Amino acid sequence: MPMLNQLVRTLNYRDGRLCFGGVFVDELATKFQTPLYVYNFDLLMQNIRELKAGMGGRLHLIAYAVKANPNLALLEFMARQGLGADVVSGGELQLALKAGIPPERIVFSGVGKTKEEIELGVQSGILAFNIETKREIDRIEQAAIRLQKKVDVTFRINPDIDAKTHPKIATGLHTTKFGLLPDEVLQLSYKFKSNPHIRVSGISAHIGSQIFDTSPLLESARFIKQFVAKLRADGFAISRLDIGGGLGVAYHPDDVGKATSLQNYAQSIAAVFSDEPGLVIMEPGRSLVAESGLLVSRVLEVKQTPKKSFLIVDAGMNDLMRPSMYSSYHHIVSVDAREQSVRVEFDVVGPVCETGDILAERRSLPMLQECQYVAFLHAGAYGMSMASNYNSRPRPAEVAIFDQSLRLIRSRETFADLIKNQYSLT
Ligand SMILES: Cc1ncc(COP(=O)(O)O)c(C=O)c1O
Repeated sequence: MPMLNQLVRTLNYRDGRLCFGGVFVDELATKFQTPLYVYNFDLLMQNIRELKAGMGGRLHLIAYAVKANPNLALLEFMARQGLGADVVSGGELQLALKAGIPPERIVFSGVGKTKEEIELGVQSGILAFNIETKREIDRIEQAAIRLQKKVDVTFRINPDIDAKTHPKIATGLHTTKFGLLPDEVLQLSYKFKSNPHIRVSGISAHIGSQIFDTSPLLESARFIKQFVAKLRADGFAISRLDIGGGLGVAYHPDDVGKATSLQNYAQSIAAVFSDEPGLVIMEPGRSLVAESGLLVSRVLEVKQTPKKSFLIVDAGMNDLMRPSMYSSYHHIVSVDAREQSVRVEFDVVGPVCETGDILAERRSLPMLQECQYVAFLHAGAYGMSMASNYNSRPRPAEVAIFDQSLRLIRSRETFADLIKNQYSLT
């Protein structure tokens, strides 16, 4: 079993109390209540530095994938580090802009952009639209005509590369809805070659998420490079090569040491593009923010049935959806490690009225008592961003540890929040 701080840096026990980024987690839970998302921005900063260091002097843009964690303060932090954003909706675009991310560092991906979203992107002057369907470019052209602009477009190519990840987060195969086929990209490129409102100037790919073995990611990067060479030979001025995100993180203790570090990954990417004059764009989400987040939850009850021991906690599938959606593993630790001698195999479940509200199955944990706390590790990515109000549960608060001080960056929702957009019949 690796040490805790090998699984999540800056996480350790001090005098038997869980400590994250120098702050006692039990104090956070008492002060802000639970369920509670806690992010260590100093750790985030470390990840950003590693990624930049790996890219060395190569011209690049880190367009953080906002979907991983769209908290406004977190986005402001990204903006201060000079990062751009990869957005997939009008809401994410507005958040990125509000956080101070300059439009010329924003790319807009996603299947199914609406007319309004496209107009917002054109009007804001974003760096590029990553086009995913044949019709989308027509809508962009119409918006560009209406707004009298010339718009940069990137074609998101689907390279048919198996990312060897969970099928629900694999996006680079021809069986998925994402991107355009290589032939379609060629046809559209020629169709819009001399268009006064569209500039065909980039190629992108994103083959999936939580990719542990980086060889498919590098294969996809080489695919983009070759495709761009072909387009350039045909007279297209391609200035952006966008490799997407996808790098996996070690959620499971058995995977510690197996995940490629951000720095090593960036170095391999920089090597693929060593002779490339254009801008290399990366869209990392999970690999930047997962490790820097914890979800802290309180034990409500221990329930024994003839067949199982359930640890019922106050965080449910609505707060952390990944385990029930993808059977994902999140390591769970007790916040108080002083009484750890008796261990029990628990199914850790939330209060949501769904049999599938299971956060962990057959997990060996200390014999916890009511009102004690547990922490779910690597909850910084696709945690709060996927949270919902299912079962009319207010979503958790979010707190940032920043320079060893604490900032409440989102307050816990209240009953008033739950009903604020609803109208009574009376
Ligand atoms: C287009 C695009 N870019 C980037 C990402 C971020 O991926 P990850 O969080 O795995 O780095 C995603 C996530 O699925 C995506 O769809």
